[in-house]
Amino acid sequence: MMNPRKWVFILLLPFLFFRFGTSIDTITPTQTIKDGDVLVSSGETFALGFFNPGNSSRRYVGIWYNKITEQTVVWVANRDSPINGTTGVLSFNQKGNLEIYDNTRNLTVWHTNITAGSYSARLLDSGNLVLFQGDSMSGGVVWQSFDHPTNTQLPNMKLGLDRRTGREWLLTTWKSRDDPGIGEYSYRVEPSEVPQLVMFKGSTRVWRIPAWLARHSSAKPETTPSFIFNGTYVNNPDEVYSFYTLINESNVATVFVDELGSLKHVTWVGKWTEFYSVPQDICDAYGRCGAYGYCDSNNGREFQCTCLPGYEPRSIGEWYLRDASSGCIKKREELSMCGNGEGFVKVAYAKIPDMSKARARIGLSMNECKEECLRNCSCLAYTSEAEGGERANCFTWHENLMDVRKFTRRFPNGGLDLYVRVDAVELAQHKESRRLNGKMVAVMVTSVVLTSVLIISLVCWLVMKKRRRGKDIQESDDENGHLSTGKDIAVKRLSTHSKQGLKEFKNEVILIAKLQHRNLVRLLGCCIHGEERMLVYEYMPNGSLDSFIFVAEITGSKLLTWSRRGYMAPEYAIDGIFSTKSDIFSFGVIVLEIISGKRNRKFHHADHDLNLLGHAWKLWFDGKASELIDPLMEGSFSMSTVLRCIQIGLLCVQKCPKDRPTMSSVVTMLVSDTVVLTQPKQPGFYIDRSPKETQECSPAQSSLSINEVTMTHLDAR
Ligand SMILES: *[C@@H]1O[C@H](CO)[C@@H](O)[C@H](O)[C@H]1NC(C)=O
Ligand SMILES: *[C@@H]1O[C@H](CO)[C@@H](O)[C@H](O)[C@H]1NC(C)=O
Ligand SMILES: *[C@@H]1O[C@H](CO)[C@@H](O)[C@H](O)[C@H]1NC(C)=O
Ligand SMILES: *[C@@H]1O[C@H](CO)[C@@H](O)[C@H](O)[C@H]1NC(C)=O
Ligand SMILES: *[C@@H]1O[C@H](CO)[C@@H](O)[C@H](O)[C@H]1NC(C)=O
Ligand SMILES: *[C@@H]1O[C@H](CO)[C@@H](O)[C@H](O)[C@H]1NC(C)=O
Ligand SMILES: *[C@@H]1O[C@H](CO)[C@@H](O)[C@H](O)[C@H]1NC(C)=O
Repeated sequence: MMNPRKWVFILLLPFLFFRFGTSIDTITPTQTIKDGDVLVSSGETFALGFFNPGNSSRRYVGIWYNKITEQTVVWVANRDSPINGTTGVLSFNQKGNLEIYDNTRNLTVWHTNITAGSYSARLLDSGNLVLFQGDSMSGGVVWQSFDHPTNTQLPNMKLGLDRRTGREWLLTTWKSRDDPGIGEYSYRVEPSEVPQLVMFKGSTRVWRIPAWLARHSSAKPETTPSFIFNGTYVNNPDEVYSFYTLINESNVATVFVDELGSLKHVTWVGKWTEFYSVPQDICDAYGRCGAYGYCDSNNGREFQCTCLPGYEPRSIGEWYLRDASSGCIKKREELSMCGNGEGFVKVAYAKIPDMSKARARIGLSMNECKEECLRNCSCLAYTSEAEGGERANCFTWHENLMDVRKFTRRFPNGGLDLYVRVDAVELAQHKESRRLNGKMVAVMVTSVVLTSVLIISLVCWLVMKKRRRGKDIQESDDENGHLSTGKDIAVKRLSTHSKQGLKEFKNEVILIAKLQHRNLVRLLGCCIHGEERMLVYEYMPNGSLDSFIFVAEITGSKLLTWSRRGYMAPEYAIDGIFSTKSDIFSFGVIVLEIISGKRNRKFHHADHDLNLLGHAWKLWFDGKASELIDPLMEGSFSMSTVLRCIQIGLLCVQKCPKDRPTMSSVVTMLVSDTVVLTQPKQPGFYIDRSPKETQECSPAQSSLSINEVTMTHLDAR
């Protein structure tokens, strides 16, 4: 009994022979392919011949999909030397090289470069045009179009480098859809110690894919985009390359680079359909956030760029205008990270930094990788592919951490955890932000207190002319004095029963010392002697801000109208306070206090038990936010501006630190009336007045709580 398929085959046999008779797949030295003739591969998948691209009338020799109605050229021979008219001929010359000859100009416009011999050429069903020694059945391959890619990577076509010969397989874009000439973009494997796939525009990097992404995607074919495209990455002493195969070979699918420098994976379903493409979003743009910055496109309305742990924007002004190209610099350049209590802070699911200068070590455990990096003072970051106790590749970086972004998952399609080296201060802050306990709260209270003093003094200096003596904050006594130079100073003595330790005190001093600004009260010095700790400031003859804002509570008089409370002018906000990572929450509290003229802590309301924040939020929620405004301000303000400030204040005091805007976005909100504000969520501590951190937010937030210690305490003063 014969298999029905065999019957079909036998019936079709004459037709197959007939087709082979007219459309051949082989060129012998005696044959020529004139314009109009076509070579068709044995499975009829690909065809080779003369064509004109797009709307151009120029003629090129190329290979295209034979069965697809839309002309799809996957390879072009004479890319940069077209023929004007149909006088071109493809044939072997006397030396055995395949050439394209223009009979009008009597000119060879393209030829292969092989040494003299007798060859034949054959178009394979993979889309590869191959020159064989002698006849195509027995001879070895001496040349193949797969070694000279244009803009398309067909299945099984290598992209990379032959380290022995220096031959590179790279994709280059067409100039335009009408011109297959070599365009500006090239997509290649960068053969550094840790190879990566990079799209270049000229010599500039446009985007890149760490090669391990290609490697791991082959391990798990069920994950996109690899369930059609099975990507593989090979790196050995002879060669480094990536290639892919189609998991279902009956699919028609390919990869190409378009004229604008995108890599596209497309499948044919009656038309070409984009399956996957890079770049996908703004964060794929190479170095979008500069050196030592990282990009997170899931950052909502906020700026995508953030500095890596331990770093801060090089230019606050540019950063605020959302230009991160100048990147980030170390927060404390003076603080050594070499045997000085430094450590690592994790950036989860990172697209790891540019690997062109990275070092790789094979077969280290996670811990060994960390030790390796810690031991070498030039090591800025490390990552490991090891999971659990296993040993795997360990990568270390020793200069510019460029082009980091955040994914939402671990590889294959996401990222690896990147561990960034940070100094002792940063390390301590990250530990603090992870476990906020009572002691830490106490430290933060002091920090908030001290920061507030600065803000207060600043505003005082700015807006008041009246001479007045102010009282100062709790936990300290103020004394005035003068230096031997005659300069007036204010001395703050921290009470001896404060829980603040010596180390924390020093940290605070460093923090305040960094807050230097012409509009801010300056820290002139400090003094530690036994139990006594003192801070020496410039003397502010006008006292502090709170004495003006809250004076109404006591005297009922009106000192500050709205225009004067509009003290959060962006110009000083940008280059002053906000440049340091000062506390958003306490800033929000201060904003609300300023608007209401009431202290958060001492706030009482007849109707409920809420504190000022709770009261403000309730009013906002009920649409009666205007009732929050200090009645003493009596229309000395624009209602919309004040409401906007209330909203910003509420956004700053939201319960979950991750919901709070960054200082830079607060600045943006304050400066621009057009920035749409989100609706504030419930504030922290809006009923509970005890100074304890509630940890009700999802723990996930801490995984990338890169920025700063978030000081969440009710008492801003
Ligand atoms: C060819 O020209 C037509 C009309 O000018 C235009 O619509 C089309 O996009 C062009 N095609 C290409 C590939 O440039
Ligand atoms: C191509 O040929 C046409 C006429 O055949 C002529 O007008 C045109 O100038 C030629 N172009 C080039 C670049 O030779
Ligand atoms: C090309 O060669 C032919 C014959 O060899 C000659 O007649 C013709 O003038 C040549 N054309 C050019 C443009 O040189
Ligand atoms: C052949 O070699 C020459 C000189 O090395 C080079 O300029 C030319 O581009 C090569 N041609 C091809 C088709 O590779
Ligand atoms: C993917 O490609 C690799 C290397 O060619 C191969 O070993 C593996 O079997 C392929 N996986 C699938 C699902 O085709
Ligand atoms: C491969 O694709 C063809 C056509 O799309 C389909 O009919 C076939 O079932 C697929 N084979 C497998 C193994 O998925
Ligand atoms: C640290 O690493 C760099 C880069 O690999 C290397 O050049 C340098 O010699 C190393 N230094 C030490 C002390 O191992």
